[in-house]
Amino acid sequence: MNQTMEKLNQIGMIPVVKLEDISKALPLARALTAGGIPAAEVTFRASGAEKVIAQLRESFPDMVVGAGTVLNIRQAVQAIDAGALYIVSPGLNPEIVSFCQEKNIPVIPGCATPTELERAVSLGVNVVKFFPAEQNGGLAGIKALCGPYDGVRFIPTGGVNLRNLSDYLSHPRIFACGGTFMAPPELIEKNDWDGIAALCRSAVDETLGITPCGSLSLLLEQLIGVTPASEDQTPCDHYEKEVSCLQITVNSLPRACYWLKQKGIEVLDPALEEDAGVSHASVLIKGVPPFSIRLIQKQRGA
Ligand code: 3PG
Repeated sequence: MNQTMEKLNQIGMIPVVKLEDISKALPLARALTAGGIPAAEVTFRASGAEKVIAQLRESFPDMVVGAGTVLNIRQAVQAIDAGALYIVSPGLNPEIVSFCQEKNIPVIPGCATPTELERAVSLGVNVVKFFPAEQNGGLAGIKALCGPYDGVRFIPTGGVNLRNLSDYLSHPRIFACGGTFMAPPELIEKNDWDGIAALCRSAVDETLGITPCGSLSLLLEQLIGVTPASEDQTPCDHYEKEVSCLQITVNSLPRACYWLKQKGIEVLDPALEEDAGVSHASVLIKGVPPFSIRLIQKQRGA
């Protein structure tokens, strides 16, 4: 997979950013990255989008900055010249798709029907924006489309929020989720950068879905000789008897490993080993003394 697309997939969220006032670009990018989401789809619905893209690319070279609402070749050229790393369109425009492919820039067209998906696949696209997501049946709509179109993955956008984010991202065919919920226009208007960073942190928490396993109580018992009053009911019972480290379940191992690496935490076996049909990875926390945590992939619905 292309490096830009891989990073978008690992981050799992793409803030759709509509900036009328380009002087807000840098504080907004600082808020998004501080909140743990170093990505933005800068929409051409606001004029000056290409200037915002250029500023972000220059000041935040590690941020995955792309262009959104690209409706024609002129905008695609402006976006690519400004340094956009990917191009998103609300619909499927074959001209834009082919143009970006020729330029070797990832392109994510919007699709909401089988006909559009078939067209996208025939153009060699396998990641599409599912737009507008909630109005087109949300996750149920995507699940219905998954059957016939095997290799396609979706970026639902439109109506995604902190309440439905985790459901979407828990499905294996969801590539990432997009939307304005991480940087709502009203908070941008008020220059509420702390508020945006806090929303991003909540979105990261939802995305990772980190949940301690029941083994935590066994570990506590071993460490301090106390059995906690209640135990979490978790899907990782088969690990219970061989507890030597903390175990937590996560929505997505690749996303959790990416997030931990961003925090400077070592991932010991990023190969995501399989044991008794359950994927897991270990991470080393270099505290004093160092200790490890086993991450276990939550069981996901098809
Ligand atoms: C888009 O431009 O991709 C969508 O309009 C974003 O929709 P949302 O505001 O519901 O997230």
